Amino acid sequence: MLRTLHERPRTRSAKGRTGGFFTTMSAAALDLRGITCTFPAPSRDAEPYTAVRDVDISLGDGEFVAIVGPTGCGKSTILNVAAGLLAATAGEVSVFGTPLAGINSHAGYMFQAEALLPWLTARGNVSLGLEMHGVARAEATQRADAWLERVGLAGFEERYPKQLSGGMKKRVALAQTLVLEPRILLMDEPFSALDIQTRQLMENELLDMWSADRKSVFFVTHDLEEAISLADRVVVMSAGPGTKPVAEFKVDIPRPRDVTEIVQSPHYLDLHRRIWEILKKEVLKSYERGKTMVPVG
Ligand SMILES: Nc1ncnc2c1ncn2[C@@H]1O[C@H](COP(=O)(O)OP(=O)(O)OP(=O)(O)O)[C@@H](O)[C@H]1O
Ligand SMILES: [Mg+2]
Repeated sequence: MLRTLHERPRTRSAKGRTGGFFTTMSAAALDLRGITCTFPAPSRDAEPYTAVRDVDISLGDGEFVAIVGPTGCGKSTILNVAAGLLAATAGEVSVFGTPLAGINSHAGYMFQAEALLPWLTARGNVSLGLEMHGVARAEATQRADAWLERVGLAGFEERYPKQLSGGMKKRVALAQTLVLEPRILLMDEPFSALDIQTRQLMENELLDMWSADRKSVFFVTHDLEEAISLADRVVVMSAGPGTKPVAEFKVDIPRPRDVTEIVQSPHYLDLHRRIWEILKKEVLKSYERGKTMVPVG
């Protein structure tokens, strides 16, 4: 259902993880309030560019929120702010109720771009973060191998990224993020480069893993089907500049879900139609503006 914008999101208690929403209790995993991001002008005769303006967006403890919006609107910028990699020009971020200063140590970030180190094996890529956190090499290796097995890559530990397929590299990146056991997952179009079959397999795997320990997930995607299939809530962002949420929908489709089956249900189709009505307008606005805008940065 369409909820009023800027309504303060309800958070879930541990008890609420298997049931519906509750109105009180645990602090949100992430709470972004009044976030504005203005990038400096790239040259003297250009203007600064405000990608994101006055955004309020929240992620409940154990909640899975998908963020959709036109290309270039500011989705990655918002994740960068949530990760503490980019300081907002204005606004505040709280993580489990504590104001964020610097890097968000509770968050694991799966970047939009390929982020594996080419000179390390799959095992090396996954264990690196642990070793940087002071875990001894033998234990880091053991934990890396266990995660590679969980994402279906047992036997591929010694392979370098160039020896892996696109889908395998995404699995390594997923293991690399999850091995650190973050309470919050920031995922920026993690499966967009994959073929549809591999993507659906990965989506189902992600849902299985998420169901096991209910991390809080911000999941950015261009794909509305993916957003509805995975999330508890879908937030639609406006066309830029100055993007902000224009609508949000609760996805009240029961779990466990199978992404290959869910898309045939009448309820899914109805939600898809209602969200697409709004998203399409923003995509068209973005397209029209793109034709008249000078690129920045
Ligand atoms: N460091 C930067 N300097 C200047 N402009 C930037 C910078 N980072 C992002 N932008 C601009 O901010 C806007 C939002 O970028 P962002 O990458 O957040 O969009 P997005 O919604 O993630 O796009 P896509 O869906 O294509 O990944 C774009 O117009 C981009 O050019
Ligand atoms: Mg992006």
